[in-house]
Amino acid sequence: MKRTQATAWSSKDSAELYGIHQWGKGNFDLSADGNVRVKGQFPSGEVAIPLIDIVTGAKQRGYDFPLLLRVENLLDERIQLLNESFATAMAEAGYRGRYQGVFPVKVNQQCQVIREISRFGAAYGHGLEAGSKAELLLALANLNEGGLLICNGYKDREFIDLGLWAGKLGYRCFFVIESPTELPLLLERSKATGIKPLIGVRIKVSVKVGGLWTETTGDRSSFGLSTAQLVAVVDQLRQADMLGCLQLLHCHLGSQIPDIEEIRAGVREAGRFYADLAEEGVPLQYLDLGGGLAVDYIGNQSKQSHSRNYDMAGYCRCLVETVAATLDRKQVAHPTLITESGRATVAHTTMLLFDILDVLRFEPLSLPENCPADAPPLVARQFVLHQQQQEADPFLTYNEALANRDRIRELFRQGELNLRQRSLAENLFLSIARRVTTELTAASPDAPGLNELRKSLADIYYGNFSVFQSLPDTWAIGQVYPVLPIHRLHEAPIRDGIISDLTCDCDGKLDCFVLNGGEQQTLPLHQLKENEDYILGVFLMGAYQETLGDLHNLFGDTNVLSIRLNEDGSFDLVKEISGDSIAEVLSYVEYHPETLFEDFRTKTEQAVRDGKINLTERREILDQFAARLRGSTYYKRCGK
Ligand SMILES: Cc1ncc(COP(=O)(O)O)c(C=O)c1O
Repeated sequence: MKRTQATAWSSKDSAELYGIHQWGKGNFDLSADGNVRVKGQFPSGEVAIPLIDIVTGAKQRGYDFPLLLRVENLLDERIQLLNESFATAMAEAGYRGRYQGVFPVKVNQQCQVIREISRFGAAYGHGLEAGSKAELLLALANLNEGGLLICNGYKDREFIDLGLWAGKLGYRCFFVIESPTELPLLLERSKATGIKPLIGVRIKVSVKVGGLWTETTGDRSSFGLSTAQLVAVVDQLRQADMLGCLQLLHCHLGSQIPDIEEIRAGVREAGRFYADLAEEGVPLQYLDLGGGLAVDYIGNQSKQSHSRNYDMAGYCRCLVETVAATLDRKQVAHPTLITESGRATVAHTTMLLFDILDVLRFEPLSLPENCPADAPPLVARQFVLHQQQQEADPFLTYNEALANRDRIRELFRQGELNLRQRSLAENLFLSIARRVTTELTAASPDAPGLNELRKSLADIYYGNFSVFQSLPDTWAIGQVYPVLPIHRLHEAPIRDGIISDLTCDCDGKLDCFVLNGGEQQTLPLHQLKENEDYILGVFLMGAYQETLGDLHNLFGDTNVLSIRLNEDGSFDLVKEISGDSIAEVLSYVEYHPETLFEDFRTKTEQAVRDGKINLTERREILDQFAARLRGSTYYKRCGK
């Protein structure tokens, strides 16, 4: 479908273009009048609420962009899906054990997320995984009654003591031994407190998995015991007469693993460790297979890094069947299976919504009808290329125009061409490049090089957000998220753009997008309308982003709203958190807002004394200063 103003365009075309039925399956769709809707599942059926209605409600309550929107129903649905998919897989495979998930706190530590996981997960005994003392404390306070508490990562004496006391209180708290040096300390603290720990051992499986973290998987993973270290730990526990404490085997193959066959190979290897330890008399009862369950950010069900070639049901079947088959060969009892699925639990539940403040277009500003008589020869040649119609080989024209442009710039640097001549030449080049791109897009949309050309001409849409605060993974690891306008989707998006954030940093941009079931470097967008917000959403971004985000350029936390969709099609705001004020972010970097105000007030007083401003102006300036300190770090579109 061609995206031109003249062609008829509908929401269906947008759904196909942005792939919403693929990556947003079951959670998001488009209404006929062009709005993205979030869906909730209820016994009486499905409800779908336009995001634009939620945004309007937020604005009426005083929350401006950018806005982080969390939908609690989606979080509940993910926990339910994970637990019920395992239950189904186990029933189908005749598995003689159960599944108990834990949520790795590091994937999203936000209080309302952890509380909801614990509350809704209680029905399934869905527990928590902690990797630091701070995470342990919040987990202890929030864990539901039946949930497991898995302690990974480095542990010092304070960490261990707290975990031991938790065990005494009745928590099923596992200390997972990640390195051989941890065991002596654990044994010493156990002796000192008289409390026996529940122990797990984390092994390194040799299978390497693909995706973004492939280099840290297999033998080179930072955590876990080698086979020789595992054997030594087992022997030490036996000698200390504490082998009975070793009840859990742990491995973590990696995060966002795209290929199910690699998962199967890793699980088979972990199963072999489990079987042989059990045969040796280690009283194992739990097999924890860590994270790795991927999210299909692109929605094309492939082995690409941002996708996966399996679904939730397939993942569960793979784990259950592989463990059962591996253990059955040695007649070892089926363990309770644990996964630490983080990304797949929370990614879908949260989206970032922001408005566009301005657009920079790469287009000729104005061109004369005829070439000026005094135009230098190269500029005159550009004029000929500009007037040419429908060339045989558009790329030939483009390449000549590009070479001419570069020579013209060189002549300008040498003082051979003046400013006006260069300006005309630049306008001519843009006109040629635009015409060639339009012709190629119509004639051969897959022409090699066309994407690059399109990217070089793409508009820059300035988004009211900071990549470093809200989407750090796009900058740090090239993470791709679905991005699209949340309204006007029944209109053809006739422009191609990339998105720049508010930071003065060339890395502060989004320039890789999910489109037509693949990745592309420009995003189809609409033209801005005067006095009307143009709102974009970044979807599936609920994992890892919130606490990784930083204060680059002092853009602070955004407003956060958690909503719950109701069966009658309404929604409730269940939690509202105002974003950082400027005073707050300044205090994070050790400024005292009161002192700043005082210092500035002194300067305005001096300005009055010097006759630069009068007293009314002084008051106006100080009022503005004080109001900005209280206000948001983000911007308002001109005229608002
Ligand atoms: C030990 C451990 N468990 C679980 C996870 C969560 O992984 P994912 O988000 O892929 O489910 C991680 C993240 O890398 C991890 O290191």
